[in-house]
Amino acid sequence: MNAGFDEGHIITTLEMRMKCGVGKCGRCNMGGHFICLDGPIFTLEEIGRMHSDV
Ligand code: FES
Repeated sequence: MNAGFDEGHIITTLEMRMKCGVGKCGRCNMGGHFICLDGPIFTLEEIGRMHSDV
């Protein structure tokens, strides 16, 4: 963000939260989202919305 990019253009992965990778174990659940099914690549904007859902 210091470089001038907005939250919708900053992309990262949350793959480290995953275990089974197929939506069965629940380990990757984050605010009603399953990282393995909905991602694992997200923008910073999407991650911010997940935290507000928790
Ligand atoms: S990694 Fe198991 S439910 Fe997502």
